[in-house]
Amino acid sequence: MCNWIVGNWKMNGSLAHVAEFTAALLKGIPANLGAAGTRVAICPPHPYLTAVGERIAGSQVELGAQKVHPLPSGAFTGEVSPVMLSEFGVSVCIIGHSEHRQYFGVTDVIIAQKLHALTAVGIIPILCVGETLVEREADRQKEVIETQLRLAMKDSEEDVRGRQVSDTVLAPHPELSEEAAGKLVIAYEPVWAIGTGQTATPEQANGMHEFIRDILRERYSESLAEAMPILYGGSVNEENAGELLRQPDINGALVGGASLKADAFLSIINQAIK
Ligand code: 13P
Repeated sequence: MCNWIVGNWKMNGSLAHVAEFTAALLKGIPANLGAAGTRVAICPPHPYLTAVGERIAGSQVELGAQKVHPLPSGAFTGEVSPVMLSEFGVSVCIIGHSEHRQYFGVTDVIIAQKLHALTAVGIIPILCVGETLVEREADRQKEVIETQLRLAMKDSEEDVRGRQVSDTVLAPHPELSEEAAGKLVIAYEPVWAIGTGQTATPEQANGMHEFIRDILRERYSESLAEAMPILYGGSVNEENAGELLRQPDINGALVGGASLKADAFLSIINQAIK
């Protein structure tokens, strides 16, 4: 099982920050990262992909993206395709982040399309799922996560929600095969824990990760469920990372705010390989 520590810079950073951060990260990155089975990726905003990519080239740190369009090219102003990301050496891409679902109306169907598009070009999708505070308070977190996962993996929204999908731009996508699903990383990010300082307790997070693994076991196979890296995200920092990462079903972290500070990010990485 591979542990992942992924930094999601969101819409933060600058060229000066890229230079400073990558120098400090490369200086401090533990030499035994690979031997410990841990992979580290940084997901900067798109304009900084080249600058980060050049600086981390040949190192143990991988380049990630925060956003992708599911089609290879076309009249989609402002969008970037999976093939373009590949050209820049991107190896992982975050999809289904709650900030995209909430603020930009990215639907489960589009997320499913992106899964197919990324795996087709060899980029590892980091599929984010997570419930809102209202859903957690109504004890609906399992239902919400199960729906998000099944919509990402099945062939139509109709199957899961009994609803028709009116998506005219994107062609219908097939069910996600076991082979393609085996290339994913999943991130459980409760929306109420993102950027709030209110981390899920290690038990809460581990319980949801177990639940996700159960769905994968039932939907695909025991071996796929056991091999799936399931990351936790939501106010992970150098203080709480150790305990979260020690949970049996937590296979890494998707880190927002703390990934902007090289010392905090390095501390989280070091705690992952302990
Ligand atoms: P924070 O670590 O800032 O809460 O962000 C989490 C997140 O959304 C990572 O994708």
